Order: sequence, then structure tokens, then C-alpha cells
Amino acid sequence: MSTAAPETNGSPAKDLFTIKGTHHLEFFVGNAKQAAYFYRRAFGFELFAYSGPETGVREACSYALRQGKIVLVLTTPLIANHQANDFMRNHGDGVRDIAMHVEDAEEAFRITTERGAKAVAAPHVIEDKHGKVKLATIATYGDTVHTFVERGSDYTGPFLPHFEARDDKGMGKSVGLQFVDHVVGNVSWDEMNNTVEFYKNVFGFSRFVSFDDKDISTEYTALRSTVVANENRWIKFPINEPAEGLRKSQIEEYVEFNNGPGVQHIAMHTNDIISTVAALRENGVDFLETPDTYYTELKERVGDIDEDVERLRSLKILVDRDDKGYMLQLFTKPLEDRPTLFIEIIQRRGAESFGKGNFKALFESIEREQGLRGNL
Ligand code: FE2
Repeated sequence: MSTAAPETNGSPAKDLFTIKGTHHLEFFVGNAKQAAYFYRRAFGFELFAYSGPETGVREACSYALRQGKIVLVLTTPLIANHQANDFMRNHGDGVRDIAMHVEDAEEAFRITTERGAKAVAAPHVIEDKHGKVKLATIATYGDTVHTFVERGSDYTGPFLPHFEARDDKGMGKSVGLQFVDHVVGNVSWDEMNNTVEFYKNVFGFSRFVSFDDKDISTEYTALRSTVVANENRWIKFPINEPAEGLRKSQIEEYVEFNNGPGVQHIAMHTNDIISTVAALRENGVDFLETPDTYYTELKERVGDIDEDVERLRSLKILVDRDDKGYMLQLFTKPLEDRPTLFIEIIQRRGAESFGKGNFKALFESIEREQGLRGNL
């Protein structure tokens, strides 16, 4: 058994203000029209709202896509001095904003900035014919931000003010993705603890799970990871930093190509990973390879599971177990030309951890194959 029980925190700290969940994830992209096509066709998202010159917004176009409770907003600037241009010059396309749905944006902003968060946008009201929404934004790692969205039930628009409803015309066919399970941030050397402290101090989040480089390492590659979570654990942010290994850590590669810290992956939950991954593969989504040898030791590593191992092997789905149960997961290849952002598909069957056993098992299987070829 290479999977030790994770260090979980029995009693989560109390949230300092009410967070209802992830509101949306906004990406800055070079061409939102084309990116929207990709996330609709490949990942099964439905276009439901749009803002741009046609809706009275002159500076940028935004496409709002939805699947289950997951909302992605793809934004492309239309003017030279838009902040998205600076972001993309440094990082390429990527996640700019992990927006949270809050009860009171003013309170969220006041508490977080009083506790040391850097203000990006003070509380302000935006409105259109459907009503009013209050927003405020603070900075987190790298050029990533958190916008607090206070949207009451009296707002009747399709998404946020200045967005108009759009008909997807059946382009995005759901693959069964339901909600954001976690969003992972990669930070640079020795920045993990500061980032974890930031979420503890500023938000009142607690340390949920942590692994050190002995947990997540093979002989060649290593990383350290700590997960922070809010009180009801709907918000979970694993924070990774590179650790010394014989070869370059994948986190180090990310930080190099992203020109600093940023969102590494978004994990999306499904109730049926076999049908979700089959549909994504059918749509042409590329996933990380899993060597066949991974499945040879699967039963020994994770014990009995409900799924047919042959089916998992044919779709290359990974399995890991902790003291609470097991989970199935699979990672896409990077979604862009830079080896930065990717998506994880996850199905939890009791397990609360994040698949650290897979990291080791995967790399060890790859190294075993390398060894078989006499190249290790
Ligand atoms: Fe993950």
C-alpha cells in the first residue's frame, strides 16, 4: 500500500463571512469566441449568456458557459489598455478570477482587506434592466483574484448585469460534469506556507490536508501540497510548491511557463466518471497516459471497488483510496500550448483526499516501463 491516510483536520475553523460556493471561474483568453467553441464541443458546456458591444460593453467580450453548477466565463479584451492584455502577455490564456458567491460583498471585502488582502476593486454596484448585483475584488497568488459576488434572488437576469441570454443551439452536450470539486494553485519555491497562511488569516479557512515531498515524490520528481478549505468544504484550494527532485518538478515547469504562480487545474466532479470520460474521449479530449502496469497492482493498492477494472483500464481512469473511501480521477493534458492549465475529472466515493497515491503510482509505473526498456 503506497497510500497513507491523509492528515485531515477534524474540526474546520469558522468562516469569517458567509460563502455560498464558487460563483464562476473567469478566464482571460486571446479569442473567447473560439475558446467558447472548444469548451462547448469538447467539454460539453452550454453557452447561456454573453456580454460585449452588442449588449453595451465596449471594452471586452465575455461568454458565460454552464454545465451542472459549474460556470466558466471566457473574456477577451477589445481595447489595448485592458488589464487582460497584461495578464495574457505574462501568462498566456488562463484563470484570472475564482469568483465566490457571498451573502454580503461589502462585508467580505472589508474583512479580507482589514486582514491583509490587497484590494483590486472596492465594492461597487452594477445594474441593468434586470436589477442590481454588488461586486468587490481582492488579489491572491500571482495575478489571480477573488471577486465576491452578491447576487440576490431579486436579480432576474441570466447571469450578471450587461449579460444577455444566449441559446447554445445544442452545441454543448453535457458530459455529466456537476460542480467544481477543487481549484489548485501553483506557487513558486517556498511560497506554499505563506499562501496557506493567507487563506487561514484572511478567509478563516483551515488546513484540510497536507502532504510533504516524501508523500508526493518518486526518485525523480517532487512537490509539496497543502489543501485549505472553508467551513462547509465546498471551497477547497490545494496549494502546490515545487520540491527538490532529481529532475525538474512539474510545478517548477508550470511556474516557468506561466511566468509565476497561477491556477494549475480545476477539478470537476461527475457522478459517473466512466460515462463522462468516455464522452470526453469521444469529443477528442486528450488525457494523460496511464501505463497498463498501473492496473496490474490496482487491486492490491486500493482493494475492492464497484467499477469494472477492465473498463477503467480501457479509459485509463485512476483510482485512489484514503481512510474515508475511494475516488476515481483523470487529468487532461494541458488545455493550451503552454504546459500550464488543465482539467481534472473526479468522482468521489467517500474519499476526501486528492489522489496523492496516484501521483506516486503513476510515476512509478512510468519509471518501471522506462526500466523495462533499460532507460532508467
Ligand atoms: Fe486535483
